[in-house]
Amino acid sequence: MRSGVSTKPTSVSRGLRGVAVAETRIGDVRGQEGFYHYRQYDAVELAEKLSFEAVWHLVHQGDLPSATELGQFSRSVSSLRDVSGPLLEMLRFVASTVPSDRPLEALRAALSILVPMERHRPWIDLLEADRQRAALRLCAVTPVIVASLYRLGSGREPVPPDPELGFAANYLWMLEGTRVAPDRVRALEQYLILTIDHGFNASTFTTRVITSTGADLGSAVIGAIGALSGPLHGGAPSRALEMVDHIGAADRIDAYIEAALSHGDRLMGFGHPVYRTEDPRSRMLRGVAEHLGGARVALAKQVEARALELLREHRPERQLHTNVEFYAALVMESVGLPPNLFTPTFVLSRMIGWTAHALEQMLDNQVIRPSAAYVGPEPHRTVPRAS
Ligand code: ACO
Repeated sequence: MRSGVSTKPTSVSRGLRGVAVAETRIGDVRGQEGFYHYRQYDAVELAEKLSFEAVWHLVHQGDLPSATELGQFSRSVSSLRDVSGPLLEMLRFVASTVPSDRPLEALRAALSILVPMERHRPWIDLLEADRQRAALRLCAVTPVIVASLYRLGSGREPVPPDPELGFAANYLWMLEGTRVAPDRVRALEQYLILTIDHGFNASTFTTRVITSTGADLGSAVIGAIGALSGPLHGGAPSRALEMVDHIGAADRIDAYIEAALSHGDRLMGFGHPVYRTEDPRSRMLRGVAEHLGGARVALAKQVEARALELLREHRPERQLHTNVEFYAALVMESVGLPPNLFTPTFVLSRMIGWTAHALEQMLDNQVIRPSAAYVGPEPHRTVPRAS
């Protein structure tokens, strides 16, 4: 329901907590219950049972696909992966210009060039069908950009996408150039399904704000990548892994965490703006990480258990739990991804959510234009003449 009424705000909700700024049918996060869904389906169950393409279809089209629809959808999105010709030359240029240890910035730079090369137009000028095509293309091409830049950055030729492979398998294929074991593919696929959408997080909000101006989709998702990059949002997983690395052994856990908390540092991978109970993504990813195994997983579980106890002692009034990023880091590492690809890999799945929100925003658009409460001194009524 729209309200065009503009009133002067009397109070500020810091961080917009508890303020609804849009209606959505894409999904919802229930922080007290530890539950979230995509289009009414429990997201964790979707990750347990379905393929990435099936959930992508659900989020974008609103329904789970039949077997025939899934086949058609998978073929159609895999045909949108092409980056040959001038686009490949552009990727070579980006890889030779942006330092190879900055893959998220390289992705942002490449998208900033791809969008005008592919003549994206302001969404206010497009029909819904054209907007959907633009959304599918960006979702399909982003993994190819990330993988190609990664290989070029380490002096190797890009591996072209394989149309026979699904989203997750193809991403690992393009990174490694060899067939990847099914359990690693499935672990990555489950992580990607779990992170497609998650309420009005900062990057989704950014997408909707930019889209609401009628701008092109590229502008919206490039802005969203900037929002996601911060450690208080999607930039946390490599830092969570660094923390486990720095701790190194079980007998050093308490000293490390106590020192961090007494310095006022935040433990990466803990706390959430919405969940006041365990993050269901973290619960599932803990299981996925355990299944993949490894010494680091065992240490991480000890770090997690002690961190939760010490956070409870440190902030008894807050309910701080493990968030998605802690085990996301371990899963991505076990799958074989280097830490600086963790956040770019998060972009691949969240691109589906961002673009779904952009499409939804345009169905009933009003420019998002909140207010700020001015708290400075009363304005001067005259400006002195220059002397
Ligand atoms: N470690 C230590 N203290 C914490 C943590 C943490 N991980 N999280 C919250 N707190 C404390 C804060 O210091 C704050 O104390 P203060 O009121 O004295 O300043 C209090 O709890 C509330 O913190 P807020 O930032 O207001 O809580 P909010 O729920 O809005 O923040 C956030 C959520 C940003 C995720 C926070 O928990 C955090 O910084 N966590 C670490 C970074 C991280 O894991 N980021 C990934 C988030 S998941 C995602 O975006 C995909």
